[in-house]
Amino acid sequence: MAAAGSAVGLGNVWGFPTKTASNGGAAFLVIYLIMVFLLAFPMLVAELTIGRHGQSNPVASLRSIWTRNRVGATFFGLIAMVTASLLLSFYSIIAGWLIGFSAAPTFEVLGMNNVSDWLVSFGDTRNVVLAVIFSLLTIYVVKNGVADGIEKWSTRLMPMLFVLFAVMIAYIFTQDGAIDGLKMYLIPDVSHITAPLLVDALGQAFFSLSLGVGSMIAYGSYLKKDVNIPKTAAQVAAIDTGVAFGAGLLILPAMFVAKHNGVQIFNDAGELISSSDLVFQVLPSMFDTMGGAGIIIGTAFFVLMVIAALTSSISLLEVPVSCAQDELNMTRGKATWLIGGLITVTSIIISLNFGALFNFVATFTTVYMQPLLGAVWAVFVGWIWHRNNLLNEIKQGNPDIEQGLFWKIWPWYVRLVCPIAIVMVFLFSIL
Ligand code: PHE
Repeated sequence: MAAAGSAVGLGNVWGFPTKTASNGGAAFLVIYLIMVFLLAFPMLVAELTIGRHGQSNPVASLRSIWTRNRVGATFFGLIAMVTASLLLSFYSIIAGWLIGFSAAPTFEVLGMNNVSDWLVSFGDTRNVVLAVIFSLLTIYVVKNGVADGIEKWSTRLMPMLFVLFAVMIAYIFTQDGAIDGLKMYLIPDVSHITAPLLVDALGQAFFSLSLGVGSMIAYGSYLKKDVNIPKTAAQVAAIDTGVAFGAGLLILPAMFVAKHNGVQIFNDAGELISSSDLVFQVLPSMFDTMGGAGIIIGTAFFVLMVIAALTSSISLLEVPVSCAQDELNMTRGKATWLIGGLITVTSIIISLNFGALFNFVATFTTVYMQPLLGAVWAVFVGWIWHRNNLLNEIKQGNPDIEQGLFWKIWPWYVRLVCPIAIVMVFLFSIL
């Protein structure tokens, strides 16, 4: 459940619907599902297995596999650490917006309209203040140690999120315009399948399943030896994909309802105008149409999303913190404040140069680095790790695995198909 908590976050309710809407709808959904099943899921198994084998921070876990080249393993581990930190620095900004939207209705009810307006309007000060608040929350949880709390939060969060989604989806279909969104979401137009769409879908799958940057390697290290890793990975992928699918089912119809209600979301040429804050225009406009209930449902939704973002951000900060703690012999408190502080400063810099930096950092980390690091881990598992050692690790918690279909396919698959397919998607887009 903690791994599911890491996976479910902004990737599902912000990344996936935004990417789907700006890539033609159903075509993106289909390719995304294929990417999750064929590339992200096998790599999730791989990363969890690396982590459980290493029983340590991600850098040390990588070294436990590439024992003959500790410098090489450390080098790639460091790249993952830096990517996780950079990813978190943009993640906190969007998560900060969630805090703003979760608090705004209360201020509105209290008659403090200027505060609630400030909280939901794009602006440098608001972006900085809220990103700092979110970063402090992340630092606070990570400083106090990850293992216990998160699982409890995640266990409660998921069912609540599912119920709320169901209510909101049922509601949106009572509104005019929703059907147009549903058509866009579910009727694919193959002409939309282009090289950039493939790259986007691959990046989104890796972003959503928290791959590449070491979070799942870190969480794998907490798994007990009696845990069946392929099964756990399948559950995490299913929950994560379920939430993303539900978010699309809500937000694409809600886009067209908002359009019907006069919110401008397409320009004259019919292209989507707002990208990074699309969800933050569409959902509040839906809550507005719900009257008094909208205040409660809207607040509940955004509060749950803040928690979901937090269970993801801690898995990001955990990567550099656990490494600094072990490798540099720092105390947990010091490592968390130092690294969390640096990441917060980076968030502030990105906030103050939003136009120039935000999309650049988000694309660089999620679309490029996450899949490419994934390809590197595939090489670790497929080429560097001795097949017998790999079998011995994955056999624990799954004694019959050798006879099953999974073991017949997966090692070869991770060895050949995963790295080649990932690299080919990029080559294809460059060519
Ligand atoms: N998967 C998280 C989300 O969907 C983001 C994340 C990426 C978390 C990478 C950890 C590592 O919001």
